[in-house]
Amino acid sequence: MSSSSSTRVSQLGAAGLLAALLAAVCLLHAGGAAAAELCVDYYDCTCPDAYKIVQGVLMEAHQSDPRIFASLIRLHFHDCFVQGCDGSLLLDTFDGMESEKDARPNNGSARGFEVVDAAKAALEDACPGVVSCADILAIAAEISVELSGGPGWNVLLGRLDSFTSSKADAENLPGPFDGLDVLRAKFRNATLDDTTDLVALSGGHTFGRVQCQFVTGRLYNFSGTNQPDPTLDATYRAFLSQRCPRNGDGTSLNDLDPTTPDNFDKNYFTNLEVNRGFLQSDQELKSDPGAAGTTAPIVDRFAGSQEAFFSSFVTSMIKMGNIRPITDPSQGEVRNRCAFVNSN
Ligand code: HEM
Ligand SMILES: *[C@@H]1O[C@H](CO)[C@@H](O)[C@H](O)[C@H]1NC(C)=O
Ligand SMILES: *[C@@H]1O[C@H](CO)[C@@H](O)[C@H](O)[C@H]1NC(C)=O
Ligand SMILES: *[C@@H]1O[C@H](CO)[C@@H](O)[C@H](O)[C@H]1NC(C)=O
Repeated sequence: MSSSSSTRVSQLGAAGLLAALLAAVCLLHAGGAAAAELCVDYYDCTCPDAYKIVQGVLMEAHQSDPRIFASLIRLHFHDCFVQGCDGSLLLDTFDGMESEKDARPNNGSARGFEVVDAAKAALEDACPGVVSCADILAIAAEISVELSGGPGWNVLLGRLDSFTSSKADAENLPGPFDGLDVLRAKFRNATLDDTTDLVALSGGHTFGRVQCQFVTGRLYNFSGTNQPDPTLDATYRAFLSQRCPRNGDGTSLNDLDPTTPDNFDKNYFTNLEVNRGFLQSDQELKSDPGAAGTTAPIVDRFAGSQEAFFSSFVTSMIKMGNIRPITDPSQGEVRNRCAFVNSN
């Protein structure tokens, strides 16, 4: 990754340039006092093979689990939206502080923790005590997108891991039944943009799986009407009704993007154009009355141009990865094991 950063920048255009620019800023500060910004070359001296090591672990995991790339990018999202990108999601319950893994959006849903642990173990072998768990999530997210056919980018690094977690904040993650206004407010609250970042990052639903329980309301009893969601395409509704019967197993899995289930491409947006978004929170970006002057034009633009989607997605992922990182060593640490603080 960083060894070929000049080629990557020329391939990526604006988004790559943004990362390169941020890296240059980081270098400027490196000579002075405490470097507060993340940078792409953070581990170049202390763990030069960090990226390759994580990549090896991910490729191995993918052999037996084609879903793992999707699961891993979601972990980075759920980490960054709670207390910032600080590995808080990975902590187990300790000292009465309840794990974020037990919060509703994560319990029985967030997965891939063993692969994060395997990457951590491999990094500890190569360079003990150097690479944070929060950075592993950021690196894994990039590798997962790139190996699924999506864009690559230079990952900014240097996050420390938190001493705390917040189950309460994790309960408040963006939810599949949130209205567009609520989704937009949650993105603003996370210091992201409530239109472009919201739409671009929702494009993460171009791969991965989703349980029936998150669509049965739309199929059978939308907003308590005993009718299906009128914005749901009839053919897709019939397809989903077969897979998710009214009183069936709510944990059965479906593809978030049935056209190309494991590829990172723009099909999430072309699906929304024909009313084939899986989640209410997906389709709203195009179909909510409030979407017309806000998110819908961006959905249209990404449906029309994979290049536009990829470029915005990279910019938004870098922004998401920059949510409140811990860089002050008095406020965080490099955990030895991702599920435990070192003093535990
Ligand atoms: C905008 C608000 C969002 C909502 C309401 C939302 C909601 C959900 C829900 C309900 C699931 C299915 C969970 C399950 O069935 O167990 C899911 C899966 C997923 N989400 Fe999101 N999500 C959002 C944003 C994002 C973002 C920003 C990303 C990444 C950039 C992302 C990536 C994924 C992926 C890849 C999966 C599939 C995971 C797997 O197969 O293990 N989501 N999301
Ligand atoms: C997590 O989900 C399982 C079953 O899916 C349930 O038994 C358990 O009580 C849940 N944990 C919490 C903390 O809600
Ligand atoms: C907004 O973010 C803060 C932390 O930055 C969090 O504690 C709070 O719960 C969030 N509020 C909403 C409504 O999402
Ligand atoms: C439909 O949803 C409403 C409101 O959530 C609920 O009161 C009603 O019992 C549901 N109907 C059925 C048949 O489940």
